[in-house]
Amino acid sequence: MIDLRVEFAGLVLKNPIITASGTFGFGLEFSSFGDLKRLGGIVVKGLSLKPREGNPMPRIAETPCGMLNAIGIQNPGVEAFLRDKLPLLPWRETAIIANMYACTVPEFGELADVLAGEEGVAALEVNVSCPNVSQGGSAFGQDPAQIAKVTDEVKKRAKGKPVIVKLSPNVTDIASCAQAAEDGGADAVSLINTLLGMAVDIRTRKPTLANVVGGLSGPAIKPVALRCVHQVCRKVSIPVIGIGGIVSAEDALEFILLGASAVQVGTANFLRPDQSFRIIDDLPRAMIKARSDSLDELRGSLKLP
Ligand SMILES: Cc1cc2nc3c(=O)[nH]c(=O)nc-3n(C[C@H](O)[C@H](O)[C@H](O)COP(=O)(O)O)c2cc1C
Repeated sequence: MIDLRVEFAGLVLKNPIITASGTFGFGLEFSSFGDLKRLGGIVVKGLSLKPREGNPMPRIAETPCGMLNAIGIQNPGVEAFLRDKLPLLPWRETAIIANMYACTVPEFGELADVLAGEEGVAALEVNVSCPNVSQGGSAFGQDPAQIAKVTDEVKKRAKGKPVIVKLSPNVTDIASCAQAAEDGGADAVSLINTLLGMAVDIRTRKPTLANVVGGLSGPAIKPVALRCVHQVCRKVSIPVIGIGGIVSAEDALEFILLGASAVQVGTANFLRPDQSFRIIDDLPRAMIKARSDSLDELRGSLKLP
């Protein structure tokens, strides 16, 4: 028996496999495909203070080795989540991480306040890829000073719960964004969110997505995600959660070798709704392939030229 437990940022997880926000609903939708208690953690769909309908359809498009989405953070709002979803989740056994979406710093603070007060919420994940309405609409995540500001506000209202800042790859220097999150008091960073992309339908001569642009995810983005995680692990001293194109236990291990404490599985859940559970099952075999029975020994052991 290989011990898959991981501890970081005040969290103790059964294993390093966490399902990524927006790709696993609120967890409950996937309970017929595997025992949710087996997961290292579940990051729930992005939550806003008020319910959001999201963007007009079509808002999903298949691409070679990936998908484009422009869901627009459709969600029932934080109150409905706390009332209708959280009590049904196995939060005593599996870390439930609340992904937060807001467009102003005070809104982020208010959301943090509401979520951190809940016993069932293990940690907060701050999605900084939304447009900052007070700053003319450019995303928070593209400006290190704004990342530090949002992180500081959330941390102040988080009642001691771990704050994870989720970084966007749509920047020139992701390591300085991670540094800004660390400076703002983040307990960990998670990366990457989707890469901005677009698809065109030649029959209609229109963009495939009603929103024109969307976020690319899936195996197509894994090399970009690995590069980002590598750069960030070398820059910051807080734990890093790797995300992007992970569909197998071997993929997960690649991120751990770079130094990631844990990983999130996203689009793979659309390919096979039981894929996150299969990755957990396969992890010990993949570790043996890498000639180790210890995640601590594997973590950050990448041999650089
Ligand atoms: C349909 C869809 C919805 C998503 N919704 C969110 C969200 O609400 N909040 C967030 O931080 N990330 C969201 N993401 C980004 C994923 O959590 C993840 O960072 C990204 O898809 C890269 O991982 P992957 O290649 O394994 O899917 C979404 C991704 C997809 C595909």
